[in-house]
Amino acid sequence: MKKNLDHNDPAKNMNTKRGNGGEPHQRAEGDTQVLTTQQGVPISDNQNSLKAGDRGPTLLEDFALREKITHFDHERIPERVVHARGSAAHGYFELTESLAEYTTANILTETGKQTPVFTRFSTVAGNKGSKDTPRDVRGFSTKFYTDEGNWDLVANNMPIFFIQDAIKFPDLIHAVKPEPDRGFPQAASAHDTFWDFVSLTPETMHNVIWLMSDRALPRSFSMMEGFSIHSFRLINKEGKSTFVRFHWKPVAGVQSLIWDEAVKISGADPDYNRRDLFEAIEAGDYPEWHLGVQLFTEEEADKFPFDHLDATKLIPEETVPVKIIGKLVLNRYPDNFFAETEQVAFCPSHVPPGIDFSNDPLLQGRLFSYLDTQLSRLGSPNFAQIPINAPKCPFANNQKDGHMQMRVPKTRALYDPQSLDPERPRESEEKGFKSFDEQLDDGVKGRVRAESFADHYSQPRMFYRSQTPAEQAHIATAYTFELSKVDTPHVRTRMLSHLRQIDEELANRVAKALGMELPEPAEAMAPVQDLALSKPLQTIGRTPKTLQGRMIGILVAEGSNHSEIKKFEEAAMKEGARVKIVAPNKEVALDDGTRIQADERVSGGPSVFFDAVVSIIMPDQAKKMAKDSATLDWFNDAYVHCKAIAYCGATDEFILSKLPVKKDAFVTPLAEIDSFIDNAKQRLWEREPKVRDLA
Ligand code: HEM
Repeated sequence: MKKNLDHNDPAKNMNTKRGNGGEPHQRAEGDTQVLTTQQGVPISDNQNSLKAGDRGPTLLEDFALREKITHFDHERIPERVVHARGSAAHGYFELTESLAEYTTANILTETGKQTPVFTRFSTVAGNKGSKDTPRDVRGFSTKFYTDEGNWDLVANNMPIFFIQDAIKFPDLIHAVKPEPDRGFPQAASAHDTFWDFVSLTPETMHNVIWLMSDRALPRSFSMMEGFSIHSFRLINKEGKSTFVRFHWKPVAGVQSLIWDEAVKISGADPDYNRRDLFEAIEAGDYPEWHLGVQLFTEEEADKFPFDHLDATKLIPEETVPVKIIGKLVLNRYPDNFFAETEQVAFCPSHVPPGIDFSNDPLLQGRLFSYLDTQLSRLGSPNFAQIPINAPKCPFANNQKDGHMQMRVPKTRALYDPQSLDPERPRESEEKGFKSFDEQLDDGVKGRVRAESFADHYSQPRMFYRSQTPAEQAHIATAYTFELSKVDTPHVRTRMLSHLRQIDEELANRVAKALGMELPEPAEAMAPVQDLALSKPLQTIGRTPKTLQGRMIGILVAEGSNHSEIKKFEEAAMKEGARVKIVAPNKEVALDDGTRIQADERVSGGPSVFFDAVVSIIMPDQAKKMAKDSATLDWFNDAYVHCKAIAYCGATDEFILSKLPVKKDAFVTPLAEIDSFIDNAKQRLWEREPKVRDLA
């Protein structure tokens, strides 16, 4: 890639001496920092434990050994119970449009001000060491360090959730996680317990169809939307409330992977999205989003054909437009993964004055759950003092003690009211957080689900019918794949009965591909509506024509034409792409004698890593490479993943001719560089039905 990632400074003290057993000793010289114990005692030998004699037993007296190993033994903390796999970055948020009419929150009223943020992206089901590219929902959490306290916008990349009431969350997660008796499958919904649960829980149907769509396979974090899902409230100076749903809109546009690509990437680079975030920031190609809001009143909400307090319902942008109010830029990768990405603790109940909650019963449960789980994950009620979690504005209270207390309050009076210490903090009626004065219904206390939550099929139908034909094919194929992994016949049948309520054609496609009969449609608890279709629900239909944030792979070998390589590199980079060189060896000499270092060898840099590929190789090399299956897969995969390919004469003669690659509009000779650059910005979806068995 066009960026030197090697931070090693060979000039630094690297002097290695050998000990009696040949072991290396690198000793502090000059101004090099001296290694110490946690107590600050300098260490003389970090290679050998204290022994009785040269070959004798190790002595318990060795405090340096014991301290080092004890600390190591306790390095792990429990991973998050959900969203365990994640990656994050620092950056800033800048407000461009004030919402002063609606809220008192400074973060939403002070235009032009840059507020520091930390954003963590995650998958939901897999464990911490699982892959980046499963079919799954993605988390998109942002901690805004505002001057009125931290605001955590704990969002997902889908605008709706699986369930309507928090009491169902443990059931949902137990169903999707590896099955408890066998401990698999990891990071996958394609198994019996997930489909058993969802097929018995019609409220999940909307999120399930999103999960079967391309949204569940984001091309990169920077190409995902983010959604608060729930309605929150904004509260203005007069105490008036306006409902709000928050949206993140990626500047690079939404784009997804093809399932076959995601599967291959998970083998070739399980850190695909994480690496992309790291490399993009290193290259100065900072991921950016616009923050948007959907604002609406209670009266407007009463007219929606659904209940906005139901987290399984989205508000179409045609009904309430998304108003763009600011920009998020991620421009610094964490210095330390554990200290920051792992220890960060987001919580939807962290809001500054001027933002408040709605009565969405899922949100209400979340307001409790995060703090509770973080007490066990981070091990102490003092986790808010960890630097990544601490507010950057002044904060003060009377809380004290507890494990790992870092603060040393100098006062007698850690209680309230008190009259001994006038310096201690007091509540402020003027500045303090106030909940909205909501008039409550005269309801009856009870374990109830509102009747207005009963329509589970109209929005999944709207979603499916709003998609492009290519996306509809992906959805039908995803249901087919996932249900083909379900061994229990009645679970598959029950799912087909739901699909009949969503869309008869979709149900038919899936049943046919599975070789199953269609059952009776499931019972709908509310009439299924044909809602107006909504283009913003598409992915493919809205992927912008840009190379910003995308990656081009150029295959080269010994003797390749250097000026041709440069031409493609420059053309791609001019359009905002990053470029990686792939070659049969780690180093190659080009036609003008220049020796270059490849970013990847062919077998380590498959074409699934790239959005479009170029091949510039000499005939003798092409002839040799045509015998290598990794090289053949490189071209074949680029073709079946509908990508643009620019080829030289030798590639055509010795490699493409051996493959079922047809010269369509996206397979072009090197001379047509402008067409290649234009094609590289999209996929040729017409190619897909010719190369893949779609449902
Ligand atoms: C709209 C629905 C939901 C969304 C958008 C959502 C989103 C998220 C996200 C993005 C994270 C990862 C936070 C991070 O990056 O550290 C997370 C973690 C978590 N969520 Fe949710 N979630 C939802 C529903 C729920 C519900 C209903 C519960 C429980 C009742 C829940 C419990 C948790 C827990 C326990 C964690 C782990 C937190 C930690 O250990 O730091 N979530 N959620």
